[in-house]
Amino acid sequence: MTQFKAIRIDKDPYRAAYADFDETELMEGDVTVRVSHSTVNYKDGLAITGKSPVVRRFPMIPGIDFAGVVESSSHPDFKPGDEVVLNGWGVGENHFGGYSQKARVKGDWLVPLPKGLTAAQSMAIGTAGYTAMLAVMALEKQGMTPDRGPVLVTGAAGGVGSIAISLLATAGWRVIASTGRADEADFLKHLGASEIIDRAELSAPGKPLGKERWAAAVDSVGSHTLANVLAQTSYEGAVAACGLAQGMDLPTSVAPFILRGVCLLGIDSVTKPKAVRLQAWDRLARELDRTKLAELSTTIGFYKVMDTAAEILQGKVRGRVIVEID
Ligand SMILES: NC(=O)c1ccc[n+]([C@@H]2O[C@H](COP(=O)([O-])OP(=O)(O)OC[C@H]3O[C@@H](n4cnc5c(N)ncnc54)[C@H](OP(=O)(O)O)[C@@H]3O)[C@@H](O)[C@H]2O)c1
Repeated sequence: MTQFKAIRIDKDPYRAAYADFDETELMEGDVTVRVSHSTVNYKDGLAITGKSPVVRRFPMIPGIDFAGVVESSSHPDFKPGDEVVLNGWGVGENHFGGYSQKARVKGDWLVPLPKGLTAAQSMAIGTAGYTAMLAVMALEKQGMTPDRGPVLVTGAAGGVGSIAISLLATAGWRVIASTGRADEADFLKHLGASEIIDRAELSAPGKPLGKERWAAAVDSVGSHTLANVLAQTSYEGAVAACGLAQGMDLPTSVAPFILRGVCLLGIDSVTKPKAVRLQAWDRLARELDRTKLAELSTTIGFYKVMDTAAEILQGKVRGRVIVEID
């Protein structure tokens, strides 16, 4: 097949639509992949709707993750028939991405499909789940252990949040889940949360320091929420910050840092070195409860991506979405 279907984003006017492509239109790379699955992350929602300038080249095929089978390769690590996963590296932002039956990328960006995961499961994890693991690893590197006290997860019913809850609960943490969706309390408890709090408790402007409530946190929300999370983190605790669902701003003070020794750990999933990438995927394959992964995932067809992209920005998507491309 040299012709294939993909979502194409054009700039003036900003528009995303399904389109036919020819293999000759694919961008530079040494591995061509027949894509079987992708997923919908918050960033994909921003790209497809144009709500934030995440796409930096036009036309663009969005989709920041994909899984599939190598069709051709001149990269020494990959040969036709190999199952691979891609996340990050600006794919779907400045290099043609995963909402496409075919993709051509640098082999250095790919990882082999982790042992024990199917392509669909790897996309149930996707960038969101991989980022949740990076956040867990950052907390561990900072010396955070479950005996220090509870861990807070914000944006709990979203992609990063739901996988973070499952990983942290499995690792023995007492997890406090902050959500705006009270009706998802049973779902979050089933994933491993011990306590649910209303995100409204954290989303308004707060005091520089508050009562110490958690030893650690994984925050995918930013803005006032992150400021309040920091203000209520206990002495020498740590907060892994990875998202901006409430906003890009951080209206805080130095009080949590200089009076309580709290550490703010930044998480970027896009360009982690290959060794870290492989370690994170290997841990996800070994540590993430498969039954819970299935329960927090929904599967959609390729033609549902546009609707789901709009829904994820409205906070209407629960957990993770697998997209069947092929
Ligand atoms: N740093 C990185 O490399 C990296 C990688 C992946 C994702 N991210 C970022 O992490 C965030 C989460 O990504 P995702 O794919 O998990 O998205 P998602 O599935 O949409 O989850 C975000 C969650 O945040 C909560 N939320 C939404 N709007 C909010 C608001 N206005 N105020 C407070 N909470 C709000 C909602 O949870 P509840 O309904 O439970 O309240 C929502 O489900 C995004 O900002 C994304 O850009 C960053």
